[in-house]
Amino acid sequence: MVAVIRKLSVEYVDALIEVARESWKWTYAGIYSDEYIERWIREKYSREKLLNEITRSRSESDLLFLGAFVDLKLSGFMEVKIKKYNAELLRLYLKPEYTHMKIGRDLLSEAEKVMKERGVSECTLYVHSQNEVGISFYLKNGFKVKGRDGNDFLMVKKYE
Ligand SMILES: CC(C)(COP(=O)(O)OP(=O)(O)OC[C@H]1O[C@@H](n2cnc3c(N)ncnc32)[C@H](O)[C@@H]1OP(=O)(O)O)[C@@H](O)C(=O)NCCC(=O)NCCS
Repeated sequence: MVAVIRKLSVEYVDALIEVARESWKWTYAGIYSDEYIERWIREKYSREKLLNEITRSRSESDLLFLGAFVDLKLSGFMEVKIKKYNAELLRLYLKPEYTHMKIGRDLLSEAEKVMKERGVSECTLYVHSQNEVGISFYLKNGFKVKGRDGNDFLMVKKYE
């Protein structure tokens, strides 16, 4: 499946919330309850917060918010914080039916292009230790487990 990867704009905010909700329910089934997930989406993916973040990502260079589009519809998104020499992958979520089609790989490589231009030498992320799909994807894409923080693994990828 070929997805078009481009910077997100505010008109996709509602689509993004839907992708996040579906992806969270699929990813964390058996890990978090439905109530927990709904609360998380309501709070962390509130329309207001996302509008701020998307707007900021379009005007300031420290935040990169990418969308993956299939037939003009949002199938997934990625948010990365890019600092001077390092980056933190904050969010990477696809709708369940679009997983396993290399869209995640394409989002990551687009972000890595930007990281390279900015001279980033390592990217870190936190992934839930029971999120097997996520962990397996990151291991296959060059990340290594570097530590543990509560329920999460800290993973790191170094660049030349
Ligand atoms: C993690 C994620 C972004 C990867 O993107 P993707 O486009 O699905 O992955 P790719 O097709 O590029 O890579 C494939 C690898 O990812 C893993 N993977 C992806 N989708 C999977 C699925 N549905 N079931 C099992 N493993 C899967 C496997 O390791 C797979 O390797 P394989 O082809 O050798 O089996 C995506 O699966 C997703 O959104 N998952 C749910 C949300 C999530 O876990 N996000 C990370 C939170 S930190």
